[in-house]
Amino acid sequence: MFVALGLRRHGLGSGDAVTLTVRDNGPGFAPGALANLFVPFHTTKAAGTGLGLPISQRIVENHRGLIEVSAPESGGAQFTIVLPVYAQPRAESPT
Ligand SMILES: Nc1ncnc2c1ncn2[C@@H]1O[C@H](COP(=O)(O)OP(=O)(O)OP(=O)(O)O)[C@@H](O)[C@H]1O
Ligand SMILES: [Mg+2]
Repeated sequence: MFVALGLRRHGLGSGDAVTLTVRDNGPGFAPGALANLFVPFHTTKAAGTGLGLPISQRIVENHRGLIEVSAPESGGAQFTIVLPVYAQPRAESPT
């Protein structure tokens, strides 16, 4: 299991992005699974709902981000959540 935080300059369009990468040491993606990862109710598990990834994707996209998927040669599955960084207006000083 691997978890890492990162900062990507111009990671989303012209804006900066923060990344959260997770990689497991499971069996990796089943043949043909990659095309259907984010399709609701599509599962390769005996008792899976097929909703984990579509719900995660919806949450991330509602925050104007995206999820990247890769299958590392070392095995397992890797997901990176990419979220935009917005500059916060400086809070007004109390009067
Ligand atoms: N870490 C992973 N390693 C390998 N395949 C995965 C991984 N995560 C998801 N998948 C593949 O994507 C499919 C859809 O995943 P999703 O999380 O949406 O549903 P699920 O895991 O099948 O069900 P549930 O979320 O209810 O446990 C899985 O059935 C599996 O084929
Ligand atoms: Mg799942």
